[in-house]
Amino acid sequence: VQLQPFNSFRTKASAKIFCEPQSAEELSEIIHTFPDEQKLVLGNGFNLFFTKDFEGLVIKPAIRGIHILAETDRCVEIEVGAAEDWDQFVAYCVENGYAGIENLSLIPGSVGASPVQNIGAYGTEAMDVITKVKTVELQTGNYKELSNEECGFGYRDSIFKRTGLYVITSVVFKLEKSFQYKEKYIDLSRELEGISSPDLTQVRDAIIRIRNRKLPDYKILPNAGSFFKNPVLTEEEKDQLQQQLPDVPIYNVGEGQFKTSAAFLIDKAGYKGKRHRMVGTYTRHSLIIVNYGTENGKEIVDFMHKIQQEVLQQFGVLLEPEVRIY
Ligand code: EPU
Repeated sequence: VQLQPFNSFRTKASAKIFCEPQSAEELSEIIHTFPDEQKLVLGNGFNLFFTKDFEGLVIKPAIRGIHILAETDRCVEIEVGAAEDWDQFVAYCVENGYAGIENLSLIPGSVGASPVQNIGAYGTEAMDVITKVKTVELQTGNYKELSNEECGFGYRDSIFKRTGLYVITSVVFKLEKSFQYKEKYIDLSRELEGISSPDLTQVRDAIIRIRNRKLPDYKILPNAGSFFKNPVLTEEEKDQLQQQLPDVPIYNVGEGQFKTSAAFLIDKAGYKGKRHRMVGTYTRHSLIIVNYGTENGKEIVDFMHKIQQEVLQQFGVLLEPEVRIY
């Protein structure tokens, strides 16, 4: 099976075996049928690309459904199948007045991928609203439910990403039935200027406008969103960087740690809108690597290394990819 349609960078690779289980039971059966195959789990492929063929079993869960598990005057608990489209779920919540994920509007991908890299934008992360993640263990085919705590969430990180041991079948979210806009991210507040108390739809629309301005459409310029994580520095590293780049953005993230902007460092390293053969950084946002026409994932990796080397050499900061590379 060709994997090119299943990764938004559109790199070419094939899988020996490919399956799309419709339920957790079907998934568990498949795992029991192929105990010795190497296994890889795919969502909608918006945060990974391939550099070679996969000689094993690729699992793309096709489990759907949005079900309300519990509801009170104040909040609602909803279970969502892994294969549901993330942004359609956000739209459903906004329409029904369920608050908590409106800041995550227009993030491409499936609901099942949202806990894996703990998707985040405009001061909100998926971990803020996830109460449970239902999974099937990749090695045993057994069912396992993880609480929010057990997911080991971090910035663009989780136990799912670190261990690769679980296939997510559904995710349970807890959302609020009332909404009061709080300022969390300067870009968003600027976009909402003039609206005194924005409602969920206004917040969602503002985010859609910002993202459409800044981020390339993967159908025209294949990409996987932010390519690198924003680096987290110690106080000492931060001080050093500020001496070299006085205007570098720094956000205090607590516990003596400071996040800086990978996009800013890439710009300063001379890589904004830079292109090498068929791969480059996006002209309007340097944190995004775009594919101008290669089918070879290794070319993307080469370009990634160039950026990493340049930023490390000039500023002493190692940029870690946020995207997964297979
Ligand atoms: N900037 C530059 N040059 C650029 C673009 C941005 O210097 O070309 C600097 C500016 O100082 C700007 C700052 O970077 O103020 C932050 O830019 P932006 O608001 O676009 O955020 P980001 O750090 O580039 C992160 C997430 C995005 C998320 C946005 C909004 C990561 C790795 N990325 O990007 O997530 O949408 O914040 O919250 O944390 C993704 O993960 O794929 C993703 C798109």
